[in-house]
Amino acid sequence: MKRVAVLASGRGTNLQALIDATRKGDIPATIVLVVTDREDAQALKRGIQNFIKTLYLSPEGLSREAYDSLLLEILQANQVDVLALAGFMRILSPVLIRAYPNKILNIHPSLLPAFPGLHAQRQALEYGVKVSGCTVHLVDEEVDHGPIILQRTVPVFDTDTEETLSARILEQEHLAYPEALKLLAEDRLILQGRRVLIRQ
Ligand code: GRF
Repeated sequence: MKRVAVLASGRGTNLQALIDATRKGDIPATIVLVVTDREDAQALKRGIQNFIKTLYLSPEGLSREAYDSLLLEILQANQVDVLALAGFMRILSPVLIRAYPNKILNIHPSLLPAFPGLHAQRQALEYGVKVSGCTVHLVDEEVDHGPIILQRTVPVFDTDTEETLSARILEQEHLAYPEALKLLAEDRLILQGRRVLIRQ
């Protein structure tokens, strides 16, 4: 059973999807810790309401490295094996990434490598793509860049706004993230360079 920490800064719907999926019992993983860097994050409430150890770790007055070192101590004290970033609005420093090589997942609301960074759905709409989606990938030292575990696509309609497209993508995120966590937890990911192959 893998011990998972979820890091989130906002509303936490992906956190919720991971909680619900892991509690169903077909993923050999349990969420042992929720960490947020924002006091007003809805993710904080979700962690507490689901009886998971939940922590607000304020970044105030800390450098990125100092924050991540503190976070790393907390993760290690809780024997965390896997990190899932779920709308965590901080870039992780190498201290954390090197401590969890290929054990950190991120979800991004576009088909990477298209539209990394903030407002991916708006970027996609403005660019004029006809298909978008979401990507779950392993985290490396570049933002929205690591090896891709899986992607799910959605159509982009002429009538779409940033909100409607985001909502359509979000539905797919809630399916993709648990699926990717399951693959990682079952040790089924085989890395070949940037390619992630799935052991059947
Ligand atoms: C999601 O769109 C995710 O892809 C991105 O941040 C958003 C988080 O949403 N990284 P939520 O907090 O999980 O609802």
